[in-house]
Amino acid sequence: MTSVKITDLVKDYTLRSGLKRTRLRAVDHVSLELTPGRTVALVGESGSGKSTIAKILTRMERPTSGTVEVRLDDGTPVPNGHYRREVQMVFQDPFASLNPFHSIEHHIARPLKIHGRTQSQEDTRARVLEMLERVNLTPAEAIAPRRPHELSGGQRQRVAIARALAPGAQVLIADEPVSMLDVSIRLGVLNLLGRLQREDQLAVLYITHDLATARHFSDEIVVLYRGRVVERGPSDAVILDPHHDYTKLLALAAPDPERPGRVTSEAAVDRKAIDNSTCYDHFAGEWREAAAGAKAAVSAD
Ligand SMILES: Nc1ncnc2c1ncn2[C@@H]1O[C@H](COP(=O)(O)OP(=O)(O)O)[C@@H](O)[C@H]1O
Ligand SMILES: [Mg+2]
Repeated sequence: MTSVKITDLVKDYTLRSGLKRTRLRAVDHVSLELTPGRTVALVGESGSGKSTIAKILTRMERPTSGTVEVRLDDGTPVPNGHYRREVQMVFQDPFASLNPFHSIEHHIARPLKIHGRTQSQEDTRARVLEMLERVNLTPAEAIAPRRPHELSGGQRQRVAIARALAPGAQVLIADEPVSMLDVSIRLGVLNLLGRLQREDQLAVLYITHDLATARHFSDEIVVLYRGRVVERGPSDAVILDPHHDYTKLLALAAPDPERPGRVTSEAAVDRKAIDNSTCYDHFAGEWREAAAGAKAAVSAD
């Protein structure tokens, strides 16, 4: 079992236009923990910094400051060489994340071999079929030789999930795993993730802009707005009793079909008027400073 602790994470990007350079703070002092058997939902509209956090967690990006600690049950840090095996990601776009030239079998066999999970060809093949069955891609023998374009979007995302779990991953980062799929098949893929999470006692970070699925599939919700955590707590508490104006906006609003990842609201809300300097923490039952690493409580006066 593996746990992840993110403390005071900051990520700045430098934007250049001509000679001018500006700094964009994509992630601003974010702290959160992922523990075995629990799902944390990271919720926010597009541009709020969710994918940047996912990329730092999977070591595709380096943080500007702050720490990511990944530890085994006994508290020992996961060695660098094992990091990629332990922490795996499922991406938003199942079309882009699979190689069109390789079979489904190849996609799942590769991580098994790289991470030394199999002893022989037959062993590899048996494990590939077993993984396909686990993600309900059956009959596995028929799916294994196919290429990605021969599968539906939902099937492809199941392949991506099987590939992520094949090396024995204990931490799964799912970055909007169903937002590009047909609405009718989203629930099936999310239910699959839920089942695998329970079976393997995975620590899951479920990234989404959809509060409804966040509530259904997670134990805890962390609301991100312009790089900062503005509300956090047990899922039911955040949904049933939202405190921050931004969470209220997300809760009231419906997804905007014109702009994926954005929401519209009956009331014309000026987002710029919503501030992100404070965070309501349902665990502590109080307001805190949003960019202070969830330490300082805001004085009551
Ligand atoms: N490689 C990059 N270079 C510059 N800016 C970036 C880069 N990646 C992300 N950003 C910016 O960081 C902010 C957060 O982006 P992102 O983490 O992708 O948000 P989300 O996943 O919530 O939509 C956005 O303003 C985005 O434009
Ligand atoms: Mg994103």
